[in-house]
Amino acid sequence: MSGLQPVRGTRDLIGEECRRFRYIARTAAEILALYGFQEIETPLLESSAVFLRTLGETSDVVSKQMYVFTDRGGDEVTLRPEGTAGVARAFISEGLGQHLPLKLFYSGPMFRYERPQKGRYRQFQQFGVELLGVDNVQADIEVISAASRVLRTLKVDHLTQLQINTIGDTESREAYRQSLVAYLRGHVDRLSEDSRTRLEKNPLRILDSKDEGDRAVLKDAPLFSNFLNEASRAFFAELQEGLTRLGISYVVDPMLVRGLDYYCHTVFEFTTNAIGSQNAVIAGGRYDGLIKSMGGPHTPGVGWAAGTDRLALILPDLPALPKPVAIVPLGEAAERKALELADQLRAVGLVTDVGYSGNMSKRMKRADKLGARWAVILGDTELAKGVAQVKDLTQGTQEEVPLSNLTTRLR
Ligand code: HAM
Repeated sequence: MSGLQPVRGTRDLIGEECRRFRYIARTAAEILALYGFQEIETPLLESSAVFLRTLGETSDVVSKQMYVFTDRGGDEVTLRPEGTAGVARAFISEGLGQHLPLKLFYSGPMFRYERPQKGRYRQFQQFGVELLGVDNVQADIEVISAASRVLRTLKVDHLTQLQINTIGDTESREAYRQSLVAYLRGHVDRLSEDSRTRLEKNPLRILDSKDEGDRAVLKDAPLFSNFLNEASRAFFAELQEGLTRLGISYVVDPMLVRGLDYYCHTVFEFTTNAIGSQNAVIAGGRYDGLIKSMGGPHTPGVGWAAGTDRLALILPDLPALPKPVAIVPLGEAAERKALELADQLRAVGLVTDVGYSGNMSKRMKRADKLGARWAVILGDTELAKGVAQVKDLTQGTQEEVPLSNLTTRLR
């Protein structure tokens, strides 16, 4: 075997990088708790049916990106590509309809078979929120406000912009759909193959196409905003007023439709220019029909998910960790004593490392590499006297300290 590598699009997170991911997830959890979101953890593995129709059979996620397989018992299962459908499934199977409105947040790995690049992975992490049971637009405003506060607390808000749009209610979407299809049929020969497929099944997704030929055709396409009925228009106007009231700046992007089928009314994305083409760091919207379409009671919902990997790319450096104390034992007796001393130091909250191998200079090098503040040098002579040589590695000074005073001295 020529050395095993991680699966394409998956990564090992080590040390500082892991710390950044944890920091993001912990900060998000703290902020979302301020909003009253409770945590939910759903399985990574779901029946494929949870995602197939809910996300839309013609969506990229379902048609190209899902990790679907038949398990040993013959069941069709999928590694979750996103969190919303799993939360909706849990809502139905756990009978959570008694507890509305429900505010849930989750975090963890998601899987999509995409072409890997910076900011895009096949296993990536998300955290997200779902607010269930409220059809009032104030819920949309509150979840966007939560996203905005998370970005502010992570100190990345100056690197991101909020784009919002509406895709209206079912009636508006149907009216627009007919007009868009009629227009696109007239230009079908100029559309990409993907878009031709979507024309029959899900024409709105064509608005989101990155294909240049498609974009050229779309330039003169009818505008969604002209097809919004009064209720949809009012909903969107209220959303904008609410955001403004909370001091959240946004841009209306009439082409924003999002890649998943369950949305209605509000759709939004927080994007950044700081990581190239993978620019969405948080994205979401309203999905009033999702739970019903899965066989549950009619339950409106609105939420978003953040890409932790992308946030980690733009997060500023974290404050340095406290500098450790390095215990440098020389000789077997000292090595035995070292863990005992380390235990005492750790008990009072001092980060402590014990050097295990190599001669004195090698162990001192390790202490330097760890960025240690102090080296506690313990040889046979010191041990016999009940002392240690404590070297201040920033000042270069050294003093003899009785072992019984060590904790007090280093604190
Ligand atoms: P989404 O737009 O598919 O929405 O994903 C949300 C975020 O996850 C993206 O904006 C991005 O930051 C991150 N993300 C997606 N794919 C990848 C990838 N391959 N590599 C790295 N990061 C990625 C959803 O997932 C919806 N469930 C959001 C939602 C919740 N809508 C309503 N509630």
